This record gives sequence, C-alpha cells and structure tokens, in this order.
Amino acid sequence: MAHEIDALLQETREFPPSESFRAQANIHDPAIWEQAKADREGYWAGWAEQLDWQTKWTRVLDWNPPDAKWFVGGKLNASYNCVDRHLATRGDKPALIWEGEPGEVRRITYRELHGDVSRFANALKMLGVASGDRVAIYMPLIPEAVVAMLACARIGAVHSVVFGGFSADALRDRIQDAQAKLVITATSGYRRGSVVPLKKTTDTAVAECPSIEHVVVVRRRDEDDATLNEREVWYHDVMAGADAECEPEWVDSEHMLYMLYTSGSTGKPKGIVHTTGGYLTGCYATCKWVFDLKDDDVYWCTADIGWVTGHSYVVYGPLACGATVMLYEGAPDWPKQDRFWDIIERHKVSVFYTAPTAIRAFMKWGPQLPQAHDMSSLRLLGSVGEPINPEAWIWYHKYIGGERCPVVDTWWQTETGAIMITPLPGLVATKPGSATKPFPGIDAEILDQHGNRVEVGGGYLAITSPWPSMLRGIYGDPERFRQQYWSKWPGVYFTGDGAKRDADGYFWLLGRVDDVINVAGHRIGTMEVESALVDHPAIAEAAVVGIAHEIKGTAIAAFCIVKESERANALADPAKFEQELKAHVAEKIGAIARPEKILVTADLPKTRSGKIMRRLLRDIAEGRALGDVTTLADPGVVATLKEKYEEEA
Ligand code: WTA
Repeated sequence: MAHEIDALLQETREFPPSESFRAQANIHDPAIWEQAKADREGYWAGWAEQLDWQTKWTRVLDWNPPDAKWFVGGKLNASYNCVDRHLATRGDKPALIWEGEPGEVRRITYRELHGDVSRFANALKMLGVASGDRVAIYMPLIPEAVVAMLACARIGAVHSVVFGGFSADALRDRIQDAQAKLVITATSGYRRGSVVPLKKTTDTAVAECPSIEHVVVVRRRDEDDATLNEREVWYHDVMAGADAECEPEWVDSEHMLYMLYTSGSTGKPKGIVHTTGGYLTGCYATCKWVFDLKDDDVYWCTADIGWVTGHSYVVYGPLACGATVMLYEGAPDWPKQDRFWDIIERHKVSVFYTAPTAIRAFMKWGPQLPQAHDMSSLRLLGSVGEPINPEAWIWYHKYIGGERCPVVDTWWQTETGAIMITPLPGLVATKPGSATKPFPGIDAEILDQHGNRVEVGGGYLAITSPWPSMLRGIYGDPERFRQQYWSKWPGVYFTGDGAKRDADGYFWLLGRVDDVINVAGHRIGTMEVESALVDHPAIAEAAVVGIAHEIKGTAIAAFCIVKESERANALADPAKFEQELKAHVAEKIGAIARPEKILVTADLPKTRSGKIMRRLLRDIAEGRALGDVTTLADPGVVATLKEKYEEEA
C-alpha cells in the first residue's frame, strides 16, 4: 500500500488509566464510541439537552455540504448557559480566580459575574450595539475580558477577540474585515514585568477604522490615566450607570456567536465563524469528558482569550459546566521561572491544560522548580496546540503530574471549535505523543490523496461527517471556505494536518501537511525529526524544514537550541557535535531523516501562540527575503538567525 506520509517514529510506552481514576471518571463505559456511532444525531442531541434552551429545536441537523445547521429552530443564549443557570446552585462559587502578573488576586463568584455581565450588556446596548453587530475585544487577560465576551453574547452581538500582543496593523485589519462597531480595550496590560500600552495601539488602529463608533476602556492600573475623546468611554463609568438586570437575547441556535481570525500558511487571516448552539454543545461535552470536570475542580487552561483555546476552554466550555476557572495574566517566568507551579500550589489547581511549547520551556528550566512546590492538588493534565514529542510528554507526566495524573493530548483547531481527537482519561490508555482516538461522535479518518481510507499508516487527517461545533464559514468569504476545507474530497472536511494511525487505531499527528518534507520520495513529518533531535540529551528544542537539494530533491535543515547546562560542552567542538546530532537522528528514525545541515541557535521564531514559524525558517534556509513577520512574538530572533545562517552557509 502506498502511504502518503512515512511513519518512522516508534513509541511503545503505554499508560492505562489507573483504577482509581477510572472509577471516578465522568465517562467509563467503553461502549460509548459504538453507541455514538450508531445514532450520532441522538448522541449529540443528548449533549445539547444538558444545556438550557428557551425553545427546543425541531431538527437535530440539516446538512447540505459544506453547510451545516445544528439544533434547527432551537433558541438559547450562551451567557445564560455560562452564568445564569448556575445561580440557583452555584451563586457563591467562584467562577473566576484571577491573578495579575504583579500578584493581585480577585475571586469573582457566579453571582458577581452575572451582575457584571448584565451591567456591561446594558452598557453595550446604550452605546448602540445591537444583535448581530460585531465588537472587537483587544485586552489583556483580566476578568473584564471574560465579562466583555459574555456581555456580547448576552445581547446577540458577535465578538471578535484580537490577541493583546498583536500590532496596531493586525488589529486594524481585523476590525476592518469585520466592520466592527465598537472596540473594548484596556489602558495597559502586563507582560514579563513590562507594561504594554494597549490603549495607544488601539488608538493607532482605530484611526483607520471608520466603522468604529465607540471605544470602551478598562483602567488596568490605578495609576493609568488617559484623556478620552468624545467617542471613548471608561468601562467603570458605563458600569456605574448600568442596570444589573438584562434579559438575555434568545438567539437562534445558528446565530453567530463569534468570529476569530486565524492565519493560514498563505494570504490574509481568515475570520472563522462559530455559531451558538452547536458550538456550546461541543465545548460543554468535551469539558465534561476530556477534562472530567467536577464541581470541586479548580481548572486552569493557560491559553489567552486571544486564541480559540481561550474561547472554548477558558470561557465557554468550563463556564457552561459551572467550573471554577483560574486566569493568570502574565508570563510563566515572571518574576521567576516557577510562577505556574506557585499558582498551582496556592490556588490548588486540579486540572491543568497547557501547550507543548510551554512544556519544553519548563523542561529547559529544569525539574527542580516544580519539585520545590506542592502540586498534589493536580489530578489531570492536558496538552494542545502542536504535536507533543514523547520526551516532553514523559517529562510532563513525571515532573508535573507526579506520575499519577492522566495526560490528555488534545487535537483540534480554531475551525473545529472543540476537541476532536483525545484520550478519554478514564477509558483510553495513553501513548506518549499520540492524541489517541476521536472523541465519541466524531468521525475522523486518515485518507490518501484520492480519499481512500488508510487503515494503518500515514495520510491526511479528515473529518468525514459534520459535528456540532464545526466552523460555519470564513467571514465574508464563502468561496475561500469551500476551497480551503471542502474541495479535496466531496463532503469531507480537510484539516490540513498529516497523521498516521497505528495498529491499535491510535492517531499520531504529524503536523501541517505543509510541514511535511519529501526527502528522496519519502514524506517525513517535521515533528518526527524534531522529536529525535530533542531526544538527544543536549537539545532543548528543535525545528526542521526542507531545503532544496541537488540529489534528494529536498533535504532537512535543523535549527536546534542547546540546553543551557550542555552549552559549553557541546560547543567546544561544533563540527563533532553536529556529526553526533546527525548520527542520533539517523539512529532514532533512519538514515533517510539525517539532517543535511544543523544550525545551533539561541532562539526560534514563534508566533505569539508558540507555533514555530517554519515558513520563516524555510526563507532563511533557502536564502530568500523574509515574508510577513507581523505575527511573530519576537521579530529580532529572525534577523539574528538569518545573519548566523548566512555566515555559516
Ligand atoms: C496543531 C489550536 C498535534 C494542528 C487548538 C492543528 C496539534 C493546529 C494539536 C490548529 C495536538 C493542535 N497535536 N497538533 N494535540 N493541537 N495542533 O487553530 O496542526 O491554533 O491543525 O487551534 O494546531 O491550531 P489552532
């Protein structure tokens, strides 16, 4: 059989759920996948029934590929489901525990959240925002950001959150594309000890956005001051004058809840559209079963609300479950590299969800930091955002989870709205580096170029039937929606990711298909080579890209960060070290994957969400002019890297 992507990395370790975890898990019936498959619509309707609806739906699904409507005719409100419905039973329970980077702590109960959301919803109405209007949110991770999202939802307005680390140009483009009427921002935010002037950036952006009628400004620090012009208002002023009762707008199940921009590998960012009923159903279901949420959990997802993970797993999912959500505004290494462990210890965090890039940074900083804290409150760990290499998985399991917490590696996308491939922690034995199996009710497959199913081996990851939280489109661009996701095979969603399935039916994500390198006819996932490099004791992090090669067509160039403790040793004889790394990769996954070129670097170019920008590395490795760098976390990294690469070439 011709495999689309060669599967080279073999991982044989397995971690079955402990008996004690299984016994208490929200789901422990292994028949659930079969049951969901036998009656997929009935299964999803069962989840939707656990939300509160003002009017029940008449049909579960209308499916005219690529257009889906879920819970047709139903009416509900997302903010009602995240707040009001908990008041009777959880009114005094903290909905949010927030910690600012400088250390201030606020606890906000469901009752207080209800008051704030209702008041702000009334304020938005007063400022002329109506159902269907778009509202941009450009804020630090403070409770007011959550209030802003829920207040939009309460009145049927569509929020478009723009990550607070993005530039004025990025904010402007997104406001213009959405034709947003109002922006909610803050005077400032903290990042690694410095004060980020968000209001200034907003001013620059809004100067070129004629659609904006008002700007609402949260005063982040007591000492922050600003002179507001006639269209700008203080958050605290509008809140003071607003009524604390606001009847939620009962919207259609398919009413747009939000849009969120995500960058494609080429072209301008796409505004991914999510609607209300199906999206909330997906977030709720996955929180219950993947994070196994219980009423006494303190749940912490470290994502910013600027990303989809912050939407689904900081705000809508956990709050729909009535959970206590931990929010932390700042950087993991401020004031010291143990800030996260300190937060877990002080707030008794029980469920912790973060990204592989963070885990690899923790590895680099060393296990002595978590070891100095009491983290016995933790009972479950999650990972999301990119493939997690087995060594990082094992480290996470050992040093953060104390070898007792299940690790759920969750695969999903902005487009999918909710987790799609994941272990159910009480049911699925995990394998480090594998996201394991599709969530019940999700039909994920590995397909070859022609749409044939690959039973065991590599190929393209596809979703073959509609699911409630699926994207409903790209804002204002139905043609691109069709082209990008639905044109590869009829009626099938193309994820853009490569994956392989092993003999046990486990899925292993291999990265974006454009991250696949074709070396002498073998398609090699960048992630597998990176994993092999990171497996070398001296390497902390690695990124590989394809470079043109006379004989092989494409060869592998590897950019490696050496661990601090190994630096002097490794770099004493660079040529020897390079040989050693090449040999290590060849030994781990085969000579075919041996890198042609290795460049030791102090840093890698990453997006603000921590994804390595391989496109830029390719530009550097092939000596091209640099493309768009506006979404980089630290643009300086690229220039340094480019110089170094050219020097060595
Ligand atoms: C990658 C983030 C491997 C993948 C929720 C996907 C992953 C893209 C995983 C979506 C995972 C996310 N294992 N790869 N557990 N989770 N990805 O839209 O390439 O920011 O297509 O959504 O991240 O990124 P996005």
